[in-house]
Amino acid sequence: MRTRRLVIAGAALAAAVIASPARAQGELVVYCTVQEEWCRPMMAAFERATGIRVAMTRRSSGETLTQIRAERANPRGDVWWGGTGDPHLQAAEEGLTEEYRSPNLALLHPWAVRQAEQSGFRTVGIYAGALGYSFNARELERRRIAAPRCWADLLRPEFRGEVQMADPNTSGTAYTMLATIVQLKGEEPAFEYLRALHRNINQYTRSGAAPARAVATGETLVGITFLHDAVTQKVAGAPVQIVAPCEGTGYEIGSMSIIKGARNLDNAKRFYDWALTAEAQAIGATAKAYQIPSNREAPIPPEAPRFEDVKLIDYDFARWGSAAERTRLLQRWDREVRAAAR
Ligand code: F6P
Repeated sequence: MRTRRLVIAGAALAAAVIASPARAQGELVVYCTVQEEWCRPMMAAFERATGIRVAMTRRSSGETLTQIRAERANPRGDVWWGGTGDPHLQAAEEGLTEEYRSPNLALLHPWAVRQAEQSGFRTVGIYAGALGYSFNARELERRRIAAPRCWADLLRPEFRGEVQMADPNTSGTAYTMLATIVQLKGEEPAFEYLRALHRNINQYTRSGAAPARAVATGETLVGITFLHDAVTQKVAGAPVQIVAPCEGTGYEIGSMSIIKGARNLDNAKRFYDWALTAEAQAIGATAKAYQIPSNREAPIPPEAPRFEDVKLIDYDFARWGSAAERTRLLQRWDREVRAAAR
C-alpha cells in the first residue's frame, strides 16, 4: 500500500514536470530595449547563472511603454530591461511598474540611485550615455562637404535629405533629442529648429540606433543617435566620425523596471539584483555596447564616450520624464514637425 501511494505520487510529479518543464525550472519574461546583440548574451548569462528560462523580446523604449500600458489588465512581461530613462519614469508615474529596493542599489553610482529615488524605487539606472550624431567621413569628403560640429550645422542646405533620426514616439533616443533641444534653446526656438531640421530628414526610423547603422553603410550622411551606438559602428571598421555637438547635449540614464503584476515576481527580483552586479554589467562591452555601466565596480569600456569630454546639459529627468510633459511634447512634435511638408 505504502509503495503504491509512493508510485502514484511519483507518477503525478513526473506528469507535472512533463506538462510544464519551464515552470519546474522557473521562467521569466523580459522586455529588452538595448540592441539585440546585447539582449541575447545578457539573457543567456542569466539563464546559465540561475537555470531560469528567459523569454525575451526586443522593442524600442516608447513601443515598450505602449505595450506595457496595453497589457496593464493582464501583464505578460516581468522585467523591462534597458531603454532610456524618461519612459521608465513615465511608467512609474502611471503605476505600471513595481516598487523594489534591491540590496544591490548600494553598488551603484549616485546618478543611478537618483533615478530610483526619483521614481519611488519603481525604476533604476543601469547605464548612461550621451547624445550626439555621427557622419560618414568618406562620403562627406567625396562630396567636399565641411564636417559638421554643432546641432546648428545639421540645418545646412547640403544636408538636405541627408540626416536620419528616429521617431520620438517609438524611440527613447529620439525623445531624448527632442527634450534636449527644448532644454538647450527653450521651447519655441526648439520647435523652429526641429521644423527646419525636418526638411533635411530622409527618414524617421523606429529604433534609435538605426541611423548609426545607416551612416556606417553610407545610406545617410548624418545620423542622430547616442554616441555609444556610433562607436559600435566605428569599432566595426565603418568610416564614421562621431560628434558631441558644440552647443551642448543631453544624455540618458538607461533604466530597468519590474512590471506591475509580474507573474514571475521572485524571478524578476533575481534578475533585477543580478543585472545590477558588476559581472552582469560587464557583458555589455563584450557585445560591443559602449554605455557607461551604473555599477561602480563594472569596468568602463575604453571605447565608451566619456562624459568629461562632452558638454552636457543638466537634463531635467523629473520634468521631461513626467507623463504630462512627455505626452505634450510628443503631441506637439507630431502636429508641428512630423506632419509638416518637406
Ligand atoms: O542601442 C542601445 C540604446 O541606444 C540604448 O543606449 C538606449 O537606451 C536604447 O538603445 C534606446 O533605444 P530606442 O531609441 O530604440 O528606444
